[in-house]
Amino acid sequence: MKKVLVTGGAGYIGSHVVKQLGEKGYEILVIDNLSTGHKEAVLYGELQVVDLEEKDKVQKLVRDFQPDAVMHFAASIEVEESVRKPLKYYKNNTSNTINLLQILDEENINYFIFSSTAAVYGEPEKLPVKEDFPLNPINPYGQSKAFVEKILQDFNNAKKDFRYISLRYFNVAGADEKGRIGQSYKNPTHLITRALKTAKGEYEKLYIFGTDYPTPDGSCIRDFIHVDDLADAHIVALEYLFNGGESDIFNLGYGHGYSVKEVVNMAKKVTGIDFPVEEAPRRAGDPAVLIADNTKIRQKLGWKPKYDDLEYIIKTAWNWELNKRY
Ligand code: UFG
Repeated sequence: MKKVLVTGGAGYIGSHVVKQLGEKGYEILVIDNLSTGHKEAVLYGELQVVDLEEKDKVQKLVRDFQPDAVMHFAASIEVEESVRKPLKYYKNNTSNTINLLQILDEENINYFIFSSTAAVYGEPEKLPVKEDFPLNPINPYGQSKAFVEKILQDFNNAKKDFRYISLRYFNVAGADEKGRIGQSYKNPTHLITRALKTAKGEYEKLYIFGTDYPTPDGSCIRDFIHVDDLADAHIVALEYLFNGGESDIFNLGYGHGYSVKEVVNMAKKVTGIDFPVEEAPRRAGDPAVLIADNTKIRQKLGWKPKYDDLEYIIKTAWNWELNKRY
């Protein structure tokens, strides 16, 4: 069976991909610095705690493991924090990815799956967003990933046997249906998690950041995708490369969105709790609307989502929130 190195595999998205890789029988090595990840989240394979900044240590692990492919999730992910601490994002997301690519180059590992983001598009001129739209990130988080996409393209031009897939995630949410893994950050900023933690009483109220956007109800609109549909797309992309597929870039979303207010109402319905909500000013770095055109990944990779249902997404997240293991 093929071997896959997963960076950030103890994190929220990485751990769901590790779960699916494990269920399919792949041999897995996870490397994670556990800055936001949890060892309990790694359901399959071996975990080595190391930071991508420590290039020599990572390189030794890679040399010993001899992976067929690398899936790269390790990153900092908060838009608002990236505006305040841009260097953290360029270091963790851009510079550490260069370290990893140098290792791939030196160890001759030719298959790479990259976690990119819808934030590379910034405030798109048209919707839904297609992969060939211009990249105009409006925050350092999006820029840190857009830089990597450019680096990957140039690296691939120089190294003809290298093959990569860049997946541009829209808003990932939800948790494992069996409640084994889910999102667990110290200070979560994501809308659904904040709403559910407010329902649980961990926060006094939920703020709706911005009600003066040019949208029907004035709040931002996002394309929420269940983490297990997103994880499945990674396996599909990996197998596409193993079967001779060419390097490519795909959006990962459902192709329709919900407003922040609609999400809040669904969170109240699922939890049965009418938690306090307050309208607040806009948050820095937020585009008004982000919706994916997912035609390309459906047609080219044959990816078919199974959980396109906001209620299901929030139910699995709520189940996790109530029964968290870590
Ligand atoms: N929001 C609130 N209150 C909160 C939290 C969020 O109103 O307490 C709003 C935000 O202002 C935004 C929307 O809910 O309008 C979604 O915010 P999230 O923080 O949940 O997600 P983002 O859209 O900012 O970012 C996420 C990922 C990024 C990715 C982006 C692409 O974190 O990696 O989606 O859409 F790039």
